[in-house]
Amino acid sequence: MTRRERATAFGPATVGNAAVGFDILGFATDSVGDRVTVRRIDDPTVEIGEISGVVDELPREASKNTATVGLLKIIEDFELSFGFRVDIEKGIDLGSGMGGSAASAVAAVVAAAALIDREFTASELFGYALAGEAVASGAAHGDNVAPCLLGGLTLIRSLVPMEVIQVPVPSSICCVLVKPEIRVDTREARELIPEAFDLPTIVGQTTNLSGFIAGCYRGDLELIGASLKDILIEPHRAPLIKGFSQVRSEALSAGALGCSISGSGPSVFAWCDGEEDGRKVEEAMIQAFADEGVGARGWTAPVNQRGAYLVDRK
Ligand code: HSE
Repeated sequence: MTRRERATAFGPATVGNAAVGFDILGFATDSVGDRVTVRRIDDPTVEIGEISGVVDELPREASKNTATVGLLKIIEDFELSFGFRVDIEKGIDLGSGMGGSAASAVAAVVAAAALIDREFTASELFGYALAGEAVASGAAHGDNVAPCLLGGLTLIRSLVPMEVIQVPVPSSICCVLVKPEIRVDTREARELIPEAFDLPTIVGQTTNLSGFIAGCYRGDLELIGASLKDILIEPHRAPLIKGFSQVRSEALSAGALGCSISGSGPSVFAWCDGEEDGRKVEEAMIQAFADEGVGARGWTAPVNQRGAYLVDRK
């Protein structure tokens, strides 16, 4: 086999939780993403090279950077005689709730695997990327890593061993993502969640989760809309997002099927029937943030079905 020296991979932005499946459901979007270039170096270590794009400040220590933790583990597990230099181009902002840490972790692992003379299974790539994601958020949850790696809407049945179900998404679904100029730290947003919930809340959220999944399998947009509601986590995190309830209500008035917090926030997502509705909803959401004095930017795009991919390798 030709010795490969360099590979670049792209990891798309993702919406963790998808409103109804805290830590177990997430989907990828065709909006933005991170691009990571990995080069082979002689020493079996990991060096962080250039950091560019929408973020320039990231931990420079490989054991603390979400993109490089998985690579350290790969070197150790396979007793590699060489290491990696990693350049990270961030398309996803830090603390945006758009799966930026997962995108970097997944892209880095996909690029590094392309330099190793061995086929990696999806489950192995998932495990290494998950190790990186855990450094950023303080907990290993796969609802960003799985859709980023595999694409589509993913239901994570088990992290170890990886058991991920790819749930079909009706073809007309268009996703709106709006990122306000607020920063939310995932660790802090997780601390806001109570340890216990009352039974009616659990029953209500279970109903929403099952209705949503059934709606996706049936292609029933009405059922999806009726079910895409988070009564479990959203009420505890909404106070972190100035204007959230107005944004959500404007999104629904403008025709969204459902609207909730993307991951741990502050970004807010909506599912819409078609791009035309999506654009109207995006505009209404950005305006609602503006009315609260919060600047925001948005993307309207289909659900990404491809997941992370190699851009090139040499
Ligand atoms: N499931 C995680 C959380 C996703 O909500 O904390 C973080 O993007």
